[in-house]
Amino acid sequence: MQITKAEFLTSSSKASQCPEADRPEYAFIGRSNVGKSSLINMLCNKNSLAKTSSTPGKTQLINHFTINDKWYLVDLPGYGYAKVSKTQRKEFKLLIDNYLRHRSNLMCLFVLVDSRHNPQKIDLEFMHQMGIWGIPFVIVFTKMDKLKPSEKEKNIESFKNALLEEWEELPQIFITSAEKAEGKDEILNFIDQVNEQW
Ligand code: GTP
Ligand code: MG
Repeated sequence: MQITKAEFLTSSSKASQCPEADRPEYAFIGRSNVGKSSLINMLCNKNSLAKTSSTPGKTQLINHFTINDKWYLVDLPGYGYAKVSKTQRKEFKLLIDNYLRHRSNLMCLFVLVDSRHNPQKIDLEFMHQMGIWGIPFVIVFTKMDKLKPSEKEKNIESFKNALLEEWEELPQIFITSAEKAEGKDEILNFIDQVNEQW
C-alpha cells in the first residue's frame, strides 16, 4: 500500500472529543522526542503534516489524520517527559490512558523506541500496561540512521532480551529511520493487512 492522500483532521484535548470511531485507526506513542511525528510524516511523504521539534513535548493533543479517506493515523503526546510540571505530566497521562482504554476502533498501537538507548524502564513498563489492558501493539525502533552498523543488531537484541524476561512471545518489530525512509513499506503493508480485519 502507498499513502496517496493524507490530511490533518482534528486535534482533541479529551479522548471523548475524538472523531467518530467509524474506521480503522493506528496510533503512535513513545517517549517524548522519540520521533512519532517524524515517522508519521515519513509514512505519508509529507514533511509538515505532523509538527515535529527537537525540543521534547511538542505534541500535546491527540491528533487525527485521515489517510486515503479510509483510515486514521493518530499522533499522540509523548510519555515521561521530565521537564513539564507534575500536574501537566499527570494530565498527559490521563489523556493518553483514556484514549487507549476507550478507543474502540484502535486496531494496533505502534510503540516507538529510540534505538540508540539501552532498554528503558519507562518503555518496558508502558508495554507491561498495554498487556494488562489487552491493547495490541507492535514495536518500532526509531532513528536507526544514527547508529553505527555494529550497534544496530546489539541494541535490538538487548531490547528483545529485556522483553523476553516478561513476555513469552515477542511482538512484531519494525526498524525505521524517518531520515532515510527506512521501514516504510513494512509498516504500510502491515497496516494494509490489519485493515482487512475491519
Ligand atoms: P514529541 O511530540 O515532543 O513527543 O516528540 P516526537 O516523538 O513526535 O518526536 P519528533 O518527530 O518531533 O522528533 C524529535 C526529533 O528527532 C526531531 O528533531 C527530529 O528531526 C528527530 N528525528 C526523528 N526521527 C528521526 C530519525 O529517524 N532520524 C534522525 N536522525 N532524527 C530523527
Ligand atoms: Mg510529536
